[in-house]
Amino acid sequence: MENLLKHHQTLKLTPFLPALSALIYSQQELLSHPKGNILKYTMALQNLPLISFNFPNYSHNVDRKRVGIGTKDEISDSVEKQIRTNLMELAPWRKGPFELFGIEIDSEWQSWMKWNRFIDKITPLKNRRILDIGSSNGYYMFRMAAQNPKMILGLEPQYAFYFQYLALQKYLNIENVFCLPVTFDELPLMNHYFDTVFCMGVLYHRKSPIDMLKKINELMRSGGELILENLIIESNEDICLFPEERYAKMRNIFFIPSLKVLESWLKRTGFGNIKCLDISRTEPEEQRKTSWIQTESLTDFLDPENPSKTVEGYPAPVRAILSAQAI
Ligand SMILES: C[S@@+](CC[C@H](N)C(=O)[O-])C[C@H]1O[C@@H](n2cnc3c(N)ncnc32)[C@H](O)[C@@H]1O
Repeated sequence: MENLLKHHQTLKLTPFLPALSALIYSQQELLSHPKGNILKYTMALQNLPLISFNFPNYSHNVDRKRVGIGTKDEISDSVEKQIRTNLMELAPWRKGPFELFGIEIDSEWQSWMKWNRFIDKITPLKNRRILDIGSSNGYYMFRMAAQNPKMILGLEPQYAFYFQYLALQKYLNIENVFCLPVTFDELPLMNHYFDTVFCMGVLYHRKSPIDMLKKINELMRSGGELILENLIIESNEDICLFPEERYAKMRNIFFIPSLKVLESWLKRTGFGNIKCLDISRTEPEEQRKTSWIQTESLTDFLDPENPSKTVEGYPAPVRAILSAQAI
């Protein structure tokens, strides 16, 4: 976290330094007395062995699917076991896949499928300042990093995923990728700072999607690009689903708009040049149970008699990806 402060001059973060420092120091204070799960994650992170690489500029590998580093023959069997055991302590691994020294982390989501749906349709990321809201373990940030942006800041308030990010960074060590274990609301108003903002899989978790989009707009420079991914309802009308209680067994889902409504939200919060880049139904090929998660997955959330419905009887998950320009 403090690396962000160290590079504040080159990253042109100086105007936001007091607010960012306060946020980072309060988080460090919180993490310095770990208890419960945070203690478990801290121990796992500490127990991941440092590996000395064969050459100094060891860069991370990104193939069409996986993010990773190293090969199996660079570590002994006992080190392999030590890495695997401690990575497992950080489960559930929702986003990925990753490969560390031949250890394949087969995450619940095949995140490359979403990446491939938009990456060739957005403004290239070279030299851009990027915000990734709800960055999880950093899978997308690590993929973005391969395009040489100026910096990437992720926000991930769930400690399991934040510690997965720290574990991956222990090996990938990418200097211009940062992550804060905080919610979007906690981020100081870094007005007009970001060139590209990713908000994927987060807006439907918000009780006030309009307030979130307004704040995103304020953080962006004029002409900057927002990549927004959200659940949608397939309808040509101006409608929005507000689940009575749960949606696909999730309690924290609030508004699922039609595409028309999502576009209206963007227009009314200061965005223009709105394009729908993709609409896809979530299939078990993309989200499924693996040995790296202990929880249920997509097929458990759908009606076994009629998989076009969730177990609650709502339309099964369909996701849209939009790009929009901050005016
Ligand atoms: C469905 S996942 C999406 C992860 C990733 N962006 C993707 O598209 O695959 C939502 C993530 O957003 C995080 N999240 C939820 N509410 C958030 C908030 N208010 N601010 C920042 N992150 C949030 C969750 O912890 C979770 O990791």
